[in-house]
Amino acid sequence: MKVIVAGTGFVGLTHAAVLSESGHEVYAYDIDTQKIAAYNSGQREQIERYVNEPGLASIIPETLNRYLFFVDSLDGLIEETDAIFLCLPTPPNLDGSTDLSYYANAAHHLGQLLARRKDQRRVVLVNKSTVPVGTVRTLQTLLNEHQVPNFGVASNPEFLPEGDAVEKSRKPDRIVVGADTPEDFEILRNIYAQYVNHVRIAYIETTPETAEAIKYVANTLLLTYISFWNGVGARLSETFDNMMMEDLKRGVTADARISTWGSYVSNGAGGSCFGKDIQSLIYQLRQNSRPCGLLQEVFDINEYQKTYLIDRAVNEADFNFNNKTVALLCLAFTKHTNDMRDASSLKVVEALLAKGVKAVQAYDPLATDEAKHYFNPKKNNLFAKISYHDTVHEALQNSDALFITTDWEEFRGLSSTIEKMVAPPYLVIDGRRMIANYGQLVKKGYTYLAVGSKVMP
Ligand SMILES: NC(=O)c1ccc[n+]([C@@H]2O[C@H](COP(=O)([O-])OP(=O)(O)OC[C@H]3O[C@@H](n4cnc5c(N)ncnc54)[C@H](O)[C@@H]3O)[C@@H](O)[C@H]2O)c1
Repeated sequence: MKVIVAGTGFVGLTHAAVLSESGHEVYAYDIDTQKIAAYNSGQREQIERYVNEPGLASIIPETLNRYLFFVDSLDGLIEETDAIFLCLPTPPNLDGSTDLSYYANAAHHLGQLLARRKDQRRVVLVNKSTVPVGTVRTLQTLLNEHQVPNFGVASNPEFLPEGDAVEKSRKPDRIVVGADTPEDFEILRNIYAQYVNHVRIAYIETTPETAEAIKYVANTLLLTYISFWNGVGARLSETFDNMMMEDLKRGVTADARISTWGSYVSNGAGGSCFGKDIQSLIYQLRQNSRPCGLLQEVFDINEYQKTYLIDRAVNEADFNFNNKTVALLCLAFTKHTNDMRDASSLKVVEALLAKGVKAVQAYDPLATDEAKHYFNPKKNNLFAKISYHDTVHEALQNSDALFITTDWEEFRGLSSTIEKMVAPPYLVIDGRRMIANYGQLVKKGYTYLAVGSKVMP
């Protein structure tokens, strides 16, 4: 099949690369010409400057210029295309609604090109971006206005988790395809041929609107479950004596009906999707005069969670951040990625600067370059207090406190590094319950404050 993927960010690049592995002829298109040049180099370092996902930079050179083509213009490429996947940004507006301007621009451009094509064979425009329920009809109307002949619209939401995008694209839990006509379903079945009758992967065909809604309900349900553990499990364990968070979790999730995924507690879930999708769903329901108290509460718990450990440090550990140096591990919203979108670290840094810290010494194995854009001192001169370090040791040097916001496995054994680098009195804030033998630190006089525990000693 000849496929165009419009937008080559996390979703589009992964989708294009994985589709090209199945022998489809894939044209990955982006308006960002620098990105396209970087991908076309086939060089790991160049690719990972934009999207750093395990395995992705290895697939690209294997199929590049055989099945996978990166282009910064679609001129002359539109003929004989079977499907165009839209993998475009859909960020939140200030009121929580979805900014569809990127989407509308791309649709307008594609409408112009498709209206001029000579072959007139059936082409399906497939939406992979997360868009409000009913957006598929806006796309249809726009293409009709351009008098595009013989086209269909479909919704095929993406569920990949960052940090594991390639594996989950190759072996997803499900493929959801919402379309209107048998021929459009058929085109998508041909593209996803290896999944259609798969024994483990659910191939679900439905209406486009239902497919759009599946994405929102799935994402908000995941955030609800995470926030339940943060808002109830962690709160209980932080309140009552002699509570063991890990035992609480094991005891509850031993019930086969209760998921172990998401039963961890943390300083909030970040990333490009959870926050924006729940806000969008709240907006969509409110616009239709539907109550959405549960969703609002889930959103609020998750936001509160991002910085509440700083308040606990002040109130429960009597720590004064003023003029102190804080080591920050790390910056990206989760491990194995350089993505900083909606990362808890953004709120943590803001809160630390507001408390008057002298310096923030940050370490992240992948996200330093990305972080420098977010914390640009030209935007806010307080960001000049942030320094970036190549190792945990360096970040800890001469610090007064440590804040762990990301769940890299290397932090499990951090206690001996802490002992080597900094002496008590010293505050360890563990937003991910990463440090396995924290008891050793407490015995030696360090203060340990973790999500889901009372402050120790
Ligand atoms: N990142 C995730 O983990 C994830 C997971 C599931 C779903 N989604 C959804 O997928 C969509 C894309 O997310 P993303 O993280 O890949 O975004 P992204 O910002 O990483 O990538 C979007 C790309 O689209 C390009 N673009 C913008 N306008 C364009 C145009 N007119 N033509 C061609 N390219 C254009 C941008 O240059 C950028 O490279 C969003 O709706 C998001 O909610 C994201």
